[in-house]
Amino acid sequence: MRYRIAAIPGDGVGMEVIPHAIEALRAAGEVTDRFSIEITDLPWSCAYYLRHGRMMPSDGLEQLRDHDAILLGAIGYPGVDDSISLWGLLLPIRQAFDQYVNLRPIRSYAGIPSPLRAIDGTELDILCVRENTEGEYVGAGGRHGKTPDAVALQTSIFTWRGTERVSRYAFDRARERGRRLASATKSNALQYSAVLWDEVVAAVSADYPDVAVTSYHVDALAARFVLDPLSLDVVVASNLFGDILTDLGAALQGSLGLAASGNLNPERLYPSMFEPVHGSAPRRAGQGTANPMAAVSAAAMMLRHLGESDAAALVDDAIAAIARSGPRTRDIGGKDGTAEVGVAIASHVRSKTPAGG
Ligand code: IPM
Ligand code: MN
Repeated sequence: MRYRIAAIPGDGVGMEVIPHAIEALRAAGEVTDRFSIEITDLPWSCAYYLRHGRMMPSDGLEQLRDHDAILLGAIGYPGVDDSISLWGLLLPIRQAFDQYVNLRPIRSYAGIPSPLRAIDGTELDILCVRENTEGEYVGAGGRHGKTPDAVALQTSIFTWRGTERVSRYAFDRARERGRRLASATKSNALQYSAVLWDEVVAAVSADYPDVAVTSYHVDALAARFVLDPLSLDVVVASNLFGDILTDLGAALQGSLGLAASGNLNPERLYPSMFEPVHGSAPRRAGQGTANPMAAVSAAAMMLRHLGESDAAALVDDAIAAIARSGPRTRDIGGKDGTAEVGVAIASHVRSKTPAGG
């Protein structure tokens, strides 16, 4: 089996971590003796924008389309407006490929302290299901004026269908796990969108009598993430709420350098895209100190999505092993560089007995 992967390292530390994610994919393919990886290296980024006046070629989406999956580093760099770089690359991919689930596991690792005193070892385990194609991120709106009289509209669009499909996905995951689903709402203030959200979640829950669903206002849910995270199993949230909650979740894991994200098209009509939750971190770029664990963990998610669960487990186990033993990057209290950690993870994968060998 040969998987065709489109790699978009992007900007800043994205370029530093993606090679290690690719190396982990290759190592897992070799050890399981199940697949090889063919990479299409796509230099689409802010640097590309400064040369070509666009973030990706006009046929960029078509180029991506016939890949099995996309691996993305991070997008955004000073010198190019975030609204240009994100609306020129990341957000169009999520929308055009109908990647309506943004799956973001939040888990602690033995050896990496969480800022929460109550979390010790590996017991933090929340699966956040973020809606990824509509809600606050549809890009609808407009702006009038640049004076103190200026007005801007940023309109959220919530559809029954869009909410239903992401809720079903979350209920399905809850059914496989602890059978508890927390839904992030704000129906006290958002009387149209969040009320529709709640109605849909309630309607879908009728098909899942075995899953206990609780609605929390997102502000209270944020507090619960900190005060009682072990009470949470699967969380379903709108695009913006999910974005905010998962950075909080990454912080609880002990570092933004650990959190992985899968932009999924569950029907597999289009390629799904895997990326670290962290951004391009311009101030830390070029130093070789970024933590590659988030990107490698995203590669493991990719393998699971491709049906390579043994290979995915090998990569996840390697991350957990290196979290315990080191080497460790600075963000998690170590002194080692990106390359040392990346190489240690790939070597750990390769140290497992090759299939048939
Ligand atoms: C993320 C990022 C993006 C988002 C930005 C870069 C547009 O923060 O993947 O969480 O808000 O979705
Ligand atoms: Mn984010």
